[in-house]
Amino acid sequence: MTDFGKEWQLAGRRKDAARKSKTRKRSPPSARCQEEDLDIEKTVKRIKDTTSELGCEEFWQKWKEQILVASSFSGFFEGERTDHSFEEPERCQEGRPCQQLECVCYGLGSFSSCPSARFQLAMLLLLLDARQIPLKNCLVFDPIFSNGEKMVLKKLGLNVLSENEEGKRLATKPTIFYLMHCGKALYNNILWKNWSTKCLSLIMIIGNGFTGMKDRSIDREFQRDYSYMNQALDVCEEKQLPCPTRFIDVFGDTATITFPLGNLSKLPQSTWVEPQEPEYQHCPDLEIILKKSQM
Ligand SMILES: C[S@@+](CC[C@H](N)C(=O)[O-])C[C@H]1O[C@@H](n2cnc3c(N)ncnc32)[C@H](O)[C@@H]1O
Repeated sequence: MTDFGKEWQLAGRRKDAARKSKTRKRSPPSARCQEEDLDIEKTVKRIKDTTSELGCEEFWQKWKEQILVASSFSGFFEGERTDHSFEEPERCQEGRPCQQLECVCYGLGSFSSCPSARFQLAMLLLLLDARQIPLKNCLVFDPIFSNGEKMVLKKLGLNVLSENEEGKRLATKPTIFYLMHCGKALYNNILWKNWSTKCLSLIMIIGNGFTGMKDRSIDREFQRDYSYMNQALDVCEEKQLPCPTRFIDVFGDTATITFPLGNLSKLPQSTWVEPQEPEYQHCPDLEIILKKSQM
């Protein structure tokens, strides 16, 4: 059993103990989520402790270096005006342009009960700090978040999206999409929505490598259902991030994926004409929760 498997069991036992003690002493209502009995303050502290713990890991330093390099790739280092960005850059105190990055995190999972998701959230916080992305510029969404978890995320300063956009978010400024162990449809939808040289060169994905996802799929199905990922494989730069064995369930097979403008502009113009919205009608194992209206 992995360390995290053990922690799952321990978490269960701890929960039982906590339930017993709660009957004796209750925190004030403002500090806890009535609906599911999640102790908001305690969970926030736990996330912060996990973040400090992860920040001391050697592999985090390597992630940090790789991410800083990968994010400079698409021309979105601070102070640089990205010619292909739509928005006027904000001005730093010295008056020079300093465009702030945005970060979008999908599919974190239930971080209050699942240790993997908690470590992934902690990693997100480290990334934001390393890349100096203000917490409010980080949008998070997972349809399975409980109300208590949403409160925790807001307390941490993150921006919780209220709508399920199915990954269809247009990047109008340099944007890091952070999605760990998510369904292929989420990645494919991000690519579809940003299917132009202008938008793809603005995004960086930190998530599961497209190469691995293709290798684990049946070729014919991957090409039919995930055509944007399939085409992107020819032009993206995918670099695996290091992962120690004991974190394999949490950060295994994670890569930085960028779309250098030089590669994108080599593709024929026809590549970009009227991209069809993906429908996934034939997908046997669709790993995405769709908007309520479509279900
Ligand atoms: C395989 S789980 C991964 C959870 C966690 N990141 C981990 O590694 O343990 C996939 C996650 O994607 C989320 N998800 C599904 N549809 C989504 C959507 N439309 N937008 C955002 N997240 C979604 C699921 O709720 C689930 O938490």
